[in-house]
Amino acid sequence: MRKIVNGKLKDVISGILGRLQKQYNIEYPEGYENVLFDKYYGGTDEDGKDNVKINYLGPLMRLGKLRMEKFGENYKRAVSACKHGGKILDYGAGFGEFGVLLDKEGCLKKNVFMYDVDWECIDVGFDFLLGKMSKDDFIVCDPKEVSNDLRLVGKMDFVFSRSVLHSIYDSKQLREYLENSYDFLKDSGTFFGVTLAKHETQSSFNYSRNLLSDDELKDMLTRVGFRDIGIEFSSKIVHDTEDMIYPSFAFSARK
Ligand SMILES: C[S@@+](CC[C@H](N)C(=O)[O-])C[C@H]1O[C@@H](n2cnc3c(N)ncnc32)[C@H](O)[C@@H]1O
Repeated sequence: MRKIVNGKLKDVISGILGRLQKQYNIEYPEGYENVLFDKYYGGTDEDGKDNVKINYLGPLMRLGKLRMEKFGENYKRAVSACKHGGKILDYGAGFGEFGVLLDKEGCLKKNVFMYDVDWECIDVGFDFLLGKMSKDDFIVCDPKEVSNDLRLVGKMDFVFSRSVLHSIYDSKQLREYLENSYDFLKDSGTFFGVTLAKHETQSSFNYSRNLLSDDELKDMLTRVGFRDIGIEFSSKIVHDTEDMIYPSFAFSARK
């Protein structure tokens, strides 16, 4: 259960559906906002703030705001590759919006792979990105099993990772995630994405996560074997959920 800091759940849902409708031409049935409200409303606290029955509220609030400009050339190269047989994995796909975006860009579904450890976020994605994805678009299994998946190992031209590194609290699991990202790539393949950053500005916020500094991230990527590592700091801060969104790093690295 998470709490919305700014605004009420009804308005949040209408805002998300409005954006998604515009971005992806999704047709929602009449009154669909109310269906979603009834499903996700978790009561209102004494301070007037609404609770939402979902763990990943931040990413939900960002649905329909997938801005790929910050990934620059990597995103353009990934789209172009996928149109011509190249393969991309969205590793920790969550709501599945990246796959819907690539579909809109004209990438072939057979070249786009989406993996997550469980259905939690994906099921919410089905509700909001209505009709735009199917269960067959996803691989969902234990992280240990996915590391042996022959559809993925050594087959990817790109591995994309948005807001996943900071969601893995255990350092051994984080290392496994980075090792898998490396193993999934073909030689010279590109790993790119974004993660919340450990940065001096964080001291003013009360946010409990296991965040990496740029040196720590670079060190972990290097140990796994990545080269050509680039890490770019972005200071955009959003205060829309009970969590303050930290400064972030857009990163990229090659196998
Ligand atoms: C904050 S959400 C981000 C989802 C999506 N990438 C986005 O940007 O909207 C983090 C996601 O990482 C997934 N995740 C957590 N641990 C993971 C792991 N070891 N391997 C892959 N995905 C993982 C979670 O299930 C969740 O869907």
